[in-house]
Amino acid sequence: MNIITVKSYHELSKISANIIAAQINKKPTSVLGLATGSTPVGTYKNLVEMYRNGLVDFSKVITFNLDEYCGLSRENPQSYYYFMMENLFSHVNIPQENINIPNGRAMDIESECREYENKIRQVNGIDLQLLGIGHNGHIGFNEPDDVFHNNTRLVKLTQTTIEANKRFFNSAEDVPKTAISMGIKTIMSAREILVIAGPDKEEIMGKLLEQSCSPRIPASILHYHPNCTVIWAKGN
Ligand code: PGA
Repeated sequence: MNIITVKSYHELSKISANIIAAQINKKPTSVLGLATGSTPVGTYKNLVEMYRNGLVDFSKVITFNLDEYCGLSRENPQSYYYFMMENLFSHVNIPQENINIPNGRAMDIESECREYENKIRQVNGIDLQLLGIGHNGHIGFNEPDDVFHNNTRLVKLTQTTIEANKRFFNSAEDVPKTAISMGIKTIMSAREILVIAGPDKEEIMGKLLEQSCSPRIPASILHYHPNCTVIWAKGN
């Protein structure tokens, strides 16, 4: 794991956008794994700006998002589909059919998850996976547990995550209690992983830097990925 410490969130956002744009420029048909949350917002802003300046072209890019809440429609401003449209997709030239986000309102969640894995396999896997990290060390919605869960599946959100995410809702009660998340194996199968962490992640970054690996800190599995970079902004 290659850890880059930068001074500010601004710098983090610029560097991560540059890494993503470089991937797309190297391979225009890149398959990207994308993340939601507060941390990637600046990265997406920079990518939109680069697109507007003709520095990156999304016309052949395929994306797979890490997760989606169960029960929220695409039109719901708290859904991750809505987030991605607002922050990235509606501002760049990615074809709608190249965008993949789990359907949290699928009638059959199990087959939705299986289908998601199949689609990733059909395009020969993810070239570059962008990840945020939860205060509890989750990646995607892979919450701390006794074991690592491999595949895309239905997950129950922990109270820590519900508390952390209630800022986007009217109250903690409004935060969905379940979600669909890519599994740890799905994430680890990406050829390259880019983790972005802001200054609010000091405590979990400290634990991650201890180098041990435990499903109690799901992100700690990333120590075993052959091509994983973490960009950590220590200041705002
Ligand atoms: P954040 O979320 O970027 O909003 O802190 C990260 C995560 O929970 O994965």
